[in-house]
Amino acid sequence: MSMSIADMRKDYSRQSLEVHDVLQNPVLQFKKWFDEATQAQLPEANAMHLSTVSSDGKPVGRIVLLKGIEQETFVFYTNYESRKGKELLHTPWAALTFFWIELERQVRIEGEVSKVSPEKSTEYFHSRPRGSQIGAWVSPQSETIPDRTFLEKRQEELTQQFDGREIPRPEHWGGFAIRPQSIEFWQGRPSRLHDRIRYTKTAGTDWVIERLAP
Ligand SMILES: Cc1cc2nc3c(=O)[nH]c(=O)nc-3n(C[C@H](O)[C@H](O)[C@H](O)COP(=O)(O)O)c2cc1C
Repeated sequence: MSMSIADMRKDYSRQSLEVHDVLQNPVLQFKKWFDEATQAQLPEANAMHLSTVSSDGKPVGRIVLLKGIEQETFVFYTNYESRKGKELLHTPWAALTFFWIELERQVRIEGEVSKVSPEKSTEYFHSRPRGSQIGAWVSPQSETIPDRTFLEKRQEELTQQFDGREIPRPEHWGGFAIRPQSIEFWQGRPSRLHDRIRYTKTAGTDWVIERLAP
């Protein structure tokens, strides 16, 4: 018989995190942890849970990929007409959550969202594999579609249409940048007495650093 869900648990003991260990700037602290996650060769270390708010105030979540940290913002790319795209344009606030289980670490980021410039989105769009560029035209992301054949037919048509020429970035596709208001670093510790260090932005450019109870 397989293990019951209630009996599933793991004790964490790899490392600790103290206020005096962390860097003064949370984005630099994030980069430090992100480098450690990539050096540890974690699969999809840049995968993050993105939380948005629906127009009637309900939370909505899904995974997206972090594609850059630019001018202290966290950037990902998507379809602006998708569910998340519409939600972010309606309520420009989001939460990002990273979970790097092998390092027993979680990072939570909350902040205000804006669109990446069209130039930057176009530059990134053209750095993607050609198949993904066509995919951005093919998929009416988050819409209901009749079947898989619908996508395959559109893919075939658009592949022919763009044959031999540069694929333009669809206007409905581009980046969002999250400017953090708070970032929390969580390091797993034994007996559920985990370390949590939270940075909160003050009125200026300074950050308040506090320890939270686990
Ligand atoms: C590992 C992983 C990475 C993903 N990366 C992205 C991404 O960078 N951009 C994106 O639009 N969707 C990405 N997706 C798909 C989303 O999770 C989601 O299914 C899609 O964007 C539609 O979400 P929405 O209907 O809430 O807009 C990813 C999914 C997984 C599992």
